[in-house]
Amino acid sequence: MKISARTKVCGIIGDPVEHSLSPVMHNAAFAALDLDYVYLAFRVKRAELKEAIGGIRSLGVVGVNVTMPHKIGVLKLLDSLSPAAESMGAINTIHNKNGELVGYNTDGTGAMIALERKVDPRGKKAVLLGAGGAARAIAFCLAKKCKELTILNRTKEKAVELAKSLHGLGASVSALPLKGVTLRKELSDANILVNTTPVGMTPNVNETPVTRDLLKSKLVVFDVVYNPPKTKLLKEAEAVGAVTVSGVDMLVNQGAITFKIWTGHEAPVKVMRQAVLRRLKG
Ligand code: ATR
Repeated sequence: MKISARTKVCGIIGDPVEHSLSPVMHNAAFAALDLDYVYLAFRVKRAELKEAIGGIRSLGVVGVNVTMPHKIGVLKLLDSLSPAAESMGAINTIHNKNGELVGYNTDGTGAMIALERKVDPRGKKAVLLGAGGAARAIAFCLAKKCKELTILNRTKEKAVELAKSLHGLGASVSALPLKGVTLRKELSDANILVNTTPVGMTPNVNETPVTRDLLKSKLVVFDVVYNPPKTKLLKEAEAVGAVTVSGVDMLVNQGAITFKIWTGHEAPVKVMRQAVLRRLKG
């Protein structure tokens, strides 16, 4: 990487942000296409978000990813939003278009590209675990395509709230508490299972949000957790013959969409995936 006075700056803002794989992924992509860009991680405290967004404008930063806890709070500081970001009420990407800050949400689309390689969600029933930021982005996309969507969350009220905001998108949506009994019932006729909770994430790799007896070969199982790339949920799903989708696929696909927004170039997806997997192994 040759940094000069012309090098364009991209990055990620969040708190914490040290764990992010986006710098490794995007810098590998810039290098592969020989683009004069660099991607850095900036820890931005909640109380300093406004100043940080002002910094993007004044320093001419090309774009940033936005992660926890700023995905919603940042909306009011931007000049405009893509239609998807507007309806989701959360963003993960900002593009500085000659001083105009535009917000996008590439999480949902990234997840759907990964999922739709394995299954056509039209006419299907999906069960979504969790009702946080990732769940919201994915739920909006699933609700537009599936016939039925059930959201199960530890805090039922949050699932109910999310379900309400999906009204009119297409799917028949219900919200229930995340418990063994509701899981068993809802999974009995489901085609797609998506986990957006952190259960099973490093270091808790022996945990799973769904016990093996509830998994079936006809299910497509998608775990948004990417560390480890193959969670206990995905291992057990594979063991019963189910088709699986890894969180690494979602991470790389959302990154690829973001890369195109910032640079105008098609992203080198394979290079990005390799960079992520190498870092996760290391
Ligand atoms: P993200 O942006 O990754 O979606 P988030 O917005 O903090 O993160 O959401 C995390 C989701 O995982 C929430 O739905 C949370 O449930 P609550 O609404 O009850 O907090 C869920 N979650 C976190 N830890 C969990 C656990 N140990 N078991 C079950 N659900 C969990």
